[in-house]
Amino acid sequence: MKIAILPGDGIGPEIVTQAVNVLNALDEKFEMETAPVGGAGYEASGHPLPDATLKLAQDADAILFGAVGDWKYDTLERALRPEQAILGLRKNLKLFANLRPAILYPELAGASTLKPEVVSGLDILIIRELTGDIYFGQPRGMRECPDGPFKGEREAFDTMRYAETEIRRIAHVAFQTAQKRSKRLTSVDKANVLETFQFWKDIVTDVHKEYPDVALDHMYIDNAAMQLVRAPKKFDVIVTGNMFGDILSDEASMLTGSIGMLPSASLDANNKGLYEPSHGSAPDIAGKGVANPLATILSAAMMLRYSLGKTEQADRIEAAVKKVLVQGLRTPDIYEAGTTKVGTAEIGQAVVSALAN
Ligand code: IPM
Ligand code: MG
Repeated sequence: MKIAILPGDGIGPEIVTQAVNVLNALDEKFEMETAPVGGAGYEASGHPLPDATLKLAQDADAILFGAVGDWKYDTLERALRPEQAILGLRKNLKLFANLRPAILYPELAGASTLKPEVVSGLDILIIRELTGDIYFGQPRGMRECPDGPFKGEREAFDTMRYAETEIRRIAHVAFQTAQKRSKRLTSVDKANVLETFQFWKDIVTDVHKEYPDVALDHMYIDNAAMQLVRAPKKFDVIVTGNMFGDILSDEASMLTGSIGMLPSASLDANNKGLYEPSHGSAPDIAGKGVANPLATILSAAMMLRYSLGKTEQADRIEAAVKKVLVQGLRTPDIYEAGTTKVGTAEIGQAVVSALAN
């Protein structure tokens, strides 16, 4: 089995190195090939998603992705910015189902900005549709405003849209995932205002007929954003569109206070996937050896579970990460008094050691 390794920018290379070390420490051996992406892709060949990188990603069985982006690329035209690499990979590989767990490890209960009783034991999963919605809808652009009070001015516009198939397939993923958990699913929409999300709600309701064992409820995005901080443990699986999912998943990740701990998966219809930490490239701490590699290591575990069918190895990695937390090792982002502050390589090495025992 072949894994494409795309470290990217900022802290990407450091954290991916640790995840690769962990993969190499398993009994199972994987073929791994590395390619530049994001700003690194732009530096290497003038494009954030070089052809050779895309080809490698297409040919691989799974992709382990670090992070992309750096302020120094902010002035490039949009098509050349690092973020386009991840959008291009999602689109080209048809990675429509984004799974973003938000789990609060008991050892890190103090890391949340919310009261411990509100978040302790939190374990929710956001399923974000990833290839539709206002992110990819056409037309989009700038034009001269054709009518109304701003006629003749410049205006910018994007298109929010979902085709029925796109809603159905993400709904199926969501219901099937809910079946494997607590059988509760919340679909988040804005059906009170938007045509796109009235349609979303109708289709999700229709797909629900095939999953009578799952309890479905619908919630407006604004209310969902509020309920997520008010009583997050009331949720189990949440399914929503691309734009709302982008926002809600960042909010959910912060409930745990430790975005450095959260992995994510982006899957196609055949469970081929791209795996990446939920956090970004953090250029401010790049190269300092202080970044938390655990989200990337846990992303590698998700990869073993969802795309490579190696559940046992995935369990081993997750158990090793827990062990390291119990040992009290912490990178600065999750450090608390009474624990031991360590760097990127040290905590990565501790996971490798924990695997061996
Ligand atoms: C994410 C990121 C991306 C998104 C950006 C980098 C394009 O915020 O994965 O959540 O908006 O999807
Ligand atoms: Mg985001």
